[in-house]
Amino acid sequence: LSLPWFWLIAGYILGSIPFGLIVTALVGKGDVRKVGSGNIGTTNVLRAGGKGAAAATLILDAGKGALAVWLGGRYAMGGDILGGIGAFVGHCFPIFLMFRGGKGVATYLGIALALQPLAGLAFAVVWLLTAALFRYSSLAGLAASIAAPLVPLAMGRWDAALLLAGMAAMVIAKHEDNIGRLMRGEESRLGRKPADSP
Ligand code: G3P
Repeated sequence: LSLPWFWLIAGYILGSIPFGLIVTALVGKGDVRKVGSGNIGTTNVLRAGGKGAAAATLILDAGKGALAVWLGGRYAMGGDILGGIGAFVGHCFPIFLMFRGGKGVATYLGIALALQPLAGLAFAVVWLLTAALFRYSSLAGLAASIAAPLVPLAMGRWDAALLLAGMAAMVIAKHEDNIGRLMRGEESRLGRKPADSP
């Protein structure tokens, strides 16, 4: 347990658990991948399974990231960063779903909160402000992911800043389709059914 690399693998397996898929199936709404954007994240669980299922997915997807960081940091030197990398990669490329996973936003939040609570707080504030202003979950996730690394950067926490910046790059890459839809004015808005959007 004191081997840092153990936490990369443990974090990866933990991060691979597709909570959005599990929760949506548990509430009897079938396969979330066949609804809306086809993503397994909180936003699409909201479309497929409603608010309760979405809240559970957010907590579980963020929680697995936070747990990997916390456990890794508790047992191994540098285990927090490696656990975080593992959990994030696991969520985005899960071993249990043929490597087709989520877009990383909720897991990023959990990792940031566990690594540096202020960075997690900044993430949440930017997400909420952007979502309140524009009503796009994807845009809010992108803005929050890009803003959060500035906190560890300003405080000289290079390891956390690098991890958060790397995760931001992956979040951007994973939102390629969303960015296209945003630019065409076709992205679905929060609080509306996909058919009503934009
Ligand atoms: O975290 C995913 C969110 O930013 C966008 O989700 O389902 O609209 O592609 P979705």
